[in-house]
Amino acid sequence: MRLDRFLSNLPCFNRQQVRLLLAERRVRVDGQCVSDPHLEVREFSRIEVDEQLLQAGHPARYLMLHKPQGCVSATHDPEHRTVLDLIDETDKHELHLAGRLDFNTTGLMLLTNDGQWSRRLTQPQTKLAKIYYVETEQVIEPHYIEKFRQGFYFAFEDLTTLPAELTLLGPHSARLSIVEGRYHQVKRMFGHFDNKVLRLHRERMGPLQLDPGLRPGEYRALYPEEILAI
Ligand code: URA
Repeated sequence: MRLDRFLSNLPCFNRQQVRLLLAERRVRVDGQCVSDPHLEVREFSRIEVDEQLLQAGHPARYLMLHKPQGCVSATHDPEHRTVLDLIDETDKHELHLAGRLDFNTTGLMLLTNDGQWSRRLTQPQTKLAKIYYVETEQVIEPHYIEKFRQGFYFAFEDLTTLPAELTLLGPHSARLSIVEGRYHQVKRMFGHFDNKVLRLHRERMGPLQLDPGLRPGEYRALYPEEILAI
């Protein structure tokens, strides 16, 4: 939200007073005096006028987790442990998941309290490449590659999947790049060939790669350049 709108929405200032406060440089955002009425402020911003605190702000959080098998991509589950159970932070209940993985899928999961950031990451228009390592029951035949490129018709959603890039690594293993995140998408794509996915691991989401130093169940805060990459 724009700073002038934030201030004039408060019961204590009208628009004229807001203009004056900014011109007199009496407003501070995150400790800096500001006069730009168009400055974007968020729930994370600390906003003060003179010595009066208008909004304390709270830290924005961005975590990368190596999701292990046997864990639900949810913040609550009555039966199973969730990815949130692996997080040891006092404010963890403010976090939400930026994208999900199935119960037995492993790999990169992102958790944040910044809704704008996670929307940029997950909204379909972004067409962010998600890279998976896949192992299957049957041999992955070379003709799969063209079918993944052409797309699969998903009757339930009545759509054809966008071009995906399949790279064969061995008779039963491949690397797959998809730009969507449909329900059970990878398993359904291989299901077209009656080929069961035995192992699925997300290595990357766009510019964000799972840190090879993280073992299953471990997490770390994103580095500033990783946050800005989205
Ligand atoms: N596709 C799947 O089928 N499962 C996942 O967990 C992720 C993508």
